[in-house]
Amino acid sequence: MVELPKIAVRGLDRGVILIQGGMGAGVSLARLAGAVALRGGVGTVSFIALDRMVERRTGFKVSHREAAKLEIEEARRLSGNNGVVAINCMVLIEKTYIPSIEGAIEGGVNAIIAGAGLPMTLPEIVGDAQIALVPIISSGRALELICRRWSRYGRMPDAVVLEGPLAGGHLGFNVEDISKPEFRLEELFGPVKEVAQKNGDFPVVVAGGIYAREDIVRWMNVGADGVQIGTRFAATDESGASEEFKRAIVAAREEDIEVVTNPGSPAGMPFRIIKSSPGYQQALSRGRPLLCDKQYLLHGGEDGRMTCLALEGYEAFCICNALLSAADSNDTSDLPIFTVGTNASRVDRILSVDELMDELTGVMP
Ligand SMILES: Cc1cc2nc3c(=O)[nH]c(=O)nc-3n(C[C@H](O)[C@H](O)[C@H](O)COP(=O)(O)O)c2cc1C
Repeated sequence: MVELPKIAVRGLDRGVILIQGGMGAGVSLARLAGAVALRGGVGTVSFIALDRMVERRTGFKVSHREAAKLEIEEARRLSGNNGVVAINCMVLIEKTYIPSIEGAIEGGVNAIIAGAGLPMTLPEIVGDAQIALVPIISSGRALELICRRWSRYGRMPDAVVLEGPLAGGHLGFNVEDISKPEFRLEELFGPVKEVAQKNGDFPVVVAGGIYAREDIVRWMNVGADGVQIGTRFAATDESGASEEFKRAIVAAREEDIEVVTNPGSPAGMPFRIIKSSPGYQQALSRGRPLLCDKQYLLHGGEDGRMTCLALEGYEAFCICNALLSAADSNDTSDLPIFTVGTNASRVDRILSVDELMDELTGVMP
């Protein structure tokens, strides 16, 4: 098993795995991941649209594979070549999934964190590279399926991220289940911990709605091994979110945050956003036809042609354009959509990663 690093948190006598969640497109790049890894957390680069992100940073065109290699190398450099850097990959984005993993391995990535679909063949893609493999799941059943499949490769997850219904980004639940008490993270935790214990007792990291050091202490005291935090890191100086996105997080109140499905994400999963996001308001008024000019969500149809998931009958907005614009990384004037967790309503200012890590751990370096 490849171990993830643990850091000290005041009030706890055992270390905590603290993962900065992968945030695409362009929100968690090398700058954010490197800063988190420098402080002993797991800094995660999102693989989404890395070809564009790296071209913006370096000025030259690169393949998806090269982009992942370069961004991971940069994150590792910023971490003092010493920190633990992960890449976050979404299984359903078929076009870039394997090239990004291969490139990240070439760049020296320490962990692959994969969700939005079950990463059934991940051990095969990675081969015998000494890299932590960390699926993101939302139920014990999903973890059970992964463990059963991975046992064929003689491998188990090195940790698992259990993402509950309060998280930002895409949610692994039916929309009608999101607010049901039986789907609270607290309810999902027990069965997931049990599956992890049955399969070699790998660490369980919880995600979705974790805001303060007190939340970390509470989760560790009920048996979690770590936390993954997204929204709070999106609201840092080092995050790649645009200034408009960061201002929207600070301004957001509870009632401004909604899970949308219609119009929704072309990924076909519920998606939590700030309702007033300009791109969402435009989609509500059917103000933008789907042009599909960025083409990250293409996948092979039954007829062998590559089509965008958005063109398969969902009432979808163009997520590629909306998210690129939210990270100031679009070459067209499409309007942004801001994805956040429910926690965004509690964020009242933008911090540096150092300030946030000090606050979360209660320990000054
Ligand atoms: C702006 C933003 C973008 C995200 N993008 C991704 C992504 O590309 N892939 C992914 O697996 N999770 C994504 N997430 C989820 C986070 O990695 C994390 O698990 C989640 O936000 C945790 O909940 P929290 O925001 O309450 O801390 C995103 C979250 C945010 C806020």
